[in-house]
Amino acid sequence: MLFSKILNRWYSNNKRELPWRQTKDPYYIWLSEIILQQTQIKQGLPYYKAFVTEFPSVFHLANAEESQVLKLWQGLGYYSRARNLHATAKHIVDGLDGEFPKTYKELLKLKGVGDYTASAMASICFNEPTAVVDGNVYRFLSRYFGIETPINSSKGAKGFKQLAQDLIDKKNPADFNQAIMEFGAMQCKPQNPNCNVCPFQSNCIAFQKKCIDAFPVKIKPNKASRKHFNFLVFVSKDERTILEKRKGKGIWQNLFQFPLIETEKVINFKKFRAILEDNHLLKGIAFELALYNENTIIHKLSHQHLYTKFWIVNVDKLLIDGIPIEEVLEYPVPKLISNFIDDFNF
Ligand code: ADE
Repeated sequence: MLFSKILNRWYSNNKRELPWRQTKDPYYIWLSEIILQQTQIKQGLPYYKAFVTEFPSVFHLANAEESQVLKLWQGLGYYSRARNLHATAKHIVDGLDGEFPKTYKELLKLKGVGDYTASAMASICFNEPTAVVDGNVYRFLSRYFGIETPINSSKGAKGFKQLAQDLIDKKNPADFNQAIMEFGAMQCKPQNPNCNVCPFQSNCIAFQKKCIDAFPVKIKPNKASRKHFNFLVFVSKDERTILEKRKGKGIWQNLFQFPLIETEKVINFKKFRAILEDNHLLKGIAFELALYNENTIIHKLSHQHLYTKFWIVNVDKLLIDGIPIEEVLEYPVPKLISNFIDDFNF
């Protein structure tokens, strides 16, 4: 039987009922696909629901404050995606009369829309046969065809895209694309795939060679760099603290954080206290210092490992305005900080 026929049959019998599968509206498909690039379906679902409740149309999203969008995105990481989402909504409303483009080529021009999202949208919303290749598709195709080209090489990216493009069901690309991703996620799983009841078993190279776990092949990424973050959690007698907006082009651009002092290496209490005595937020005033987490928190991002300490700094009165402690929860902050806020329980 044809590859796409087997896949289609499996999908009809096994697909999950998900809210974005009830629609072809490009706004909803776009939202779901951007969110699902960040996380798995189970974790992404509550975010999707929150976004469509808060912003039921592209006009609502375009009119939102950026901080509102970042707040809803909180916990998903890669905040540039949330900023792009917002910028693109504004562009659709202001520049395109609220209408999404209708072809892969035009969709690709939108900020934050790459090959994956443009292919998903063009196929699901407009029936254009453009193949999607996400992590699930890489895994499934590399196992089935026994392909050893690393998926994180440019040769791999091109080769797998072409292969998926050759396989796509031109009559029903919408279901084919969703089916191949769903198959990778539910059946051809990273660990313990269910090979015994797999409809592709008889032709699967990795299964025949008993080397399912060897696929997909990846080039080892460069070692992540280490950074040492020291956050100052001010607590004043009148119950205020300080949150600062991050500037610059980094990963957490426009998110809020406690004042940060980055050090070259791990720093001890005495040395850190000495640094603080010279800090503009504490100069000339008395303060009490306590280290909140004896065990350094290691927060892993794709290219950086953040060795993090939260320092509680008690003062009579802040030298700058600050914010009331109870308002801390209203600010969009990186996951590293929100975990602390939950734990500290101001
Ligand atoms: N993963 C991301 N988007 C998906 C979709 N539309 N169907 C199945 N899995 C997905």
